[in-house]
Amino acid sequence: MENLISLVNKLQRACTALGDHGDESALPTLWDSLPAIAVVGGQSSGKSSVLESIVGKDFLPRGAGIVTRRPLVLQLHRVNEGKEYAEFMHLPKKRFTDFAAVRQEISDETDRETGRSKQISTVPIHLSIYSPNVVNLTLIDLPGLTKVAIEGQSETIVQDIENMVRSYIEKPNCIILAISPANQDLATSDAIKIAREVDPKGDRTFGVLTKIDLMDQGTDAVDILEGKAYKLQFSWIGVVNRSQADINKSVDMIAARRRERDYFQNSSEYTHLAHRMGSEHLGKVLSKHLETVIKSRLPGLQSLINKTIMELEGELNHLGKPIATDAGGKLYTTMEICRAFDQNFREHLDGVRAGGEK
Ligand code: GDP
Ligand code: NA
Ligand code: MG
Repeated sequence: MENLISLVNKLQRACTALGDHGDESALPTLWDSLPAIAVVGGQSSGKSSVLESIVGKDFLPRGAGIVTRRPLVLQLHRVNEGKEYAEFMHLPKKRFTDFAAVRQEISDETDRETGRSKQISTVPIHLSIYSPNVVNLTLIDLPGLTKVAIEGQSETIVQDIENMVRSYIEKPNCIILAISPANQDLATSDAIKIAREVDPKGDRTFGVLTKIDLMDQGTDAVDILEGKAYKLQFSWIGVVNRSQADINKSVDMIAARRRERDYFQNSSEYTHLAHRMGSEHLGKVLSKHLETVIKSRLPGLQSLINKTIMELEGELNHLGKPIATDAGGKLYTTMEICRAFDQNFREHLDGVRAGGEK
């Protein structure tokens, strides 16, 4: 039986292939209804670092300014064995084993859509990583929230980014990974500010505190990590990512994870929290939560898919001979995809009923 997260991954890819990423699209309700985890935070809060730590690989473009200018839908697939590789949806035949080349391709593909203008685009890039070292997970990296436009960017970019981020996280099925740096006052966190707007009760927000190692001498993050400073339904998770100096020295991810573990275990103020801190723990918690959310949404998703099939059939009837025309051909493909998923979901639900799943 197929893993639930990879099933939803396929639906996400199908939506993008059909031009559906939530705005004017063929299947707006389907993309909008797929559970996903979106990463939000201010510029330099540590978003890329957190994503790379969860994956255990260096693969994201870095630099000053607004580096992430298109949503990156990052699908992690756990495989039992074999060499790790990455694949982009826009380059289906190409397997990347060199993750520096992945970084370059993200950057090139961003420029292809935005024309090197340093503007942003809502059209997502889809990247899949297959590895024995990842948990099954889908994360959407979004442009960092910012306060000022830089040279060459339109005046509206600050608002455009905020609107894009909000369009993802306001959906009730979106899980929010809110990244705040520990060396700034939590009251000024862009991530918490926007998450609170769309999820005031904190029912679907995971708070991640980065840069704990950079806090002022004599201060610590215990109140935040214990949920006393800002309460969320889920426990706060603290991380220690690589510093810029570490990155310059090419400190590898394995070493960085080990050091992160040691940091929490060996700092007297955090020892009691060490078991629920760190990037590895974060990845596991998110994977488990995403699976739970998908499971709870299965019946709704299935009826939505059925509805989509009916609508598409209606359009096909209206159009007459479908396969002959381009538009009809596209509709036909859409319907085939939906039918296949309907079948998949049925099998899955049967499996759940038969007790095949925990
Ligand atoms: P983004 O703009 O939100 O994607 O932030 P990045 O992940 O690119 O991080 C910005 C800078 O902060 C980089 O130089 C990172 O090395 C550094 N950084 C991120 N997290 C931590 C952390 O936990 N500790 C330390 N010391 N540096 C960090
Ligand atoms: Na922030
Ligand atoms: Mg970044």
